[in-house]
Amino acid sequence: MEYLEIKGGSPLCGEIRIQGSKNAALPILSAAVLHRGITVLRNCPKIIDVTYMLEILRDFGCHVDWEGEDLVIDASSLSSCQVAECYGRQMRSSIMLLGSLLGRMKSAVVSYPGGCVIGARPIDIHLGALKQFGAVFTEEPAGLRAVCQKPKGARICLPFPSVGATENVILLAVLAEGTTILENAAREPEIGELCRFLNSMGAEIQGMGTSCLVIEGGRQLHDTEFTIMPDRIVAGTYLLMTAAAGGRVCLRDVPVEQLGSVLDAASEMGVCQRARGRDLEVWSTGRLKAVGELSTRPYPGFPTDLQSPLLAALASAEGTSVVKETIFEARFKIVEDLQRMGACIRVEGQSAAVEGVKYLHGEELTARELRGGAALVLAAVTAQGTSRVLQYHYIARGYENIIRDLQSVGVVVQSR
Ligand code: UD1
Repeated sequence: MEYLEIKGGSPLCGEIRIQGSKNAALPILSAAVLHRGITVLRNCPKIIDVTYMLEILRDFGCHVDWEGEDLVIDASSLSSCQVAECYGRQMRSSIMLLGSLLGRMKSAVVSYPGGCVIGARPIDIHLGALKQFGAVFTEEPAGLRAVCQKPKGARICLPFPSVGATENVILLAVLAEGTTILENAAREPEIGELCRFLNSMGAEIQGMGTSCLVIEGGRQLHDTEFTIMPDRIVAGTYLLMTAAAGGRVCLRDVPVEQLGSVLDAASEMGVCQRARGRDLEVWSTGRLKAVGELSTRPYPGFPTDLQSPLLAALASAEGTSVVKETIFEARFKIVEDLQRMGACIRVEGQSAAVEGVKYLHGEELTARELRGGAALVLAAVTAQGTSRVLQYHYIARGYENIIRDLQSVGVVVQSR
């Protein structure tokens, strides 16, 4: 079995350029289906989840090509509206195709979504919202069939600001008849990015960055070229890694304005940081300090996707921290691995109390999902001695090339 071998315990030094955002790229790829023409995307991350999504688009009849660093999607001829089960089950983001397929084809078949095993992840909010456009859902052996002959804009208020449900509503509203007003929309920056992409294609969406979006449906869409923003979660992972390992790293092309809650937590931990434009320099010398109490929250709160990396960093901080997970119920899966490395962590319900130890030691670790896997790599980099991270393919779902990134800041790492 392939694994990563990481020699930990040395401070980091060097620079890492942050890749394009996964959580922006996936809904934008779904949105490309809305237009009977060509979309050119720049800075699209070359990660496994994007590869799956491109396979799904090809399966629909789209022409998809990498031309150097540009990703060119021609969605003129769409012949299918069924997400092949093998992809649908692999990736939760396939549910995001519901809105765009209903808009373009008036029907869709998707299998129940898979993705990272970090909780039950129901889709009731998506379905409840799409029904308000007139969509009807039936369960079939092939998956969930959705039909919406004449999507009509609606006034919708989400019971919870779900990121995926917000994106699905936007995607269907763009080709629906009339105006859609979406209240209690999620405010994650990736949603603003999806709206900017759609507006660059001719859509008319207002209210970006707020919890109320207004979408004028039925606008004529046209070809577009768009550059995807950098990934705040990848930037946050490397920031926390530098914090815990010590040393000095320059992160390039960082969406600094989206990292407020993470930079605040890092400051509380005693990490030094200096932003100059899109460069973020991070350095840390002494031992990290505990954070007291911190909860994950919808944006602009602390992101659930950085909870595991934070936990791994706090494992060797001075003092006791309590980390509460309020978004996904099964996101403490890495605790057992951290405990075997010497961490002192007690999980009770949705809280983890971390009593920092002086150092972690190298161990054999197993990645079980994307962000937890990245957190284990972080722990391995900070630990004394050598660690192995098994099943590291999970990490490639969201990190373009973690080996290259680690090597560029001096970590001794190889895949075997
Ligand atoms: C997206 C991100 C993921 C991030 C999450 C929260 C992508 C591709 N993924 O996931 O990285 O961790 O936002 O910031 O962008 N829920 C329901 N019913 C629903 C929908 C959601 O109960 O119909 C629950 C989920 O189980 C979860 C919570 O709401 O507990 C948040 O989910 P949501 O915001 O929808 O996250 P995703 O879009 O799946």
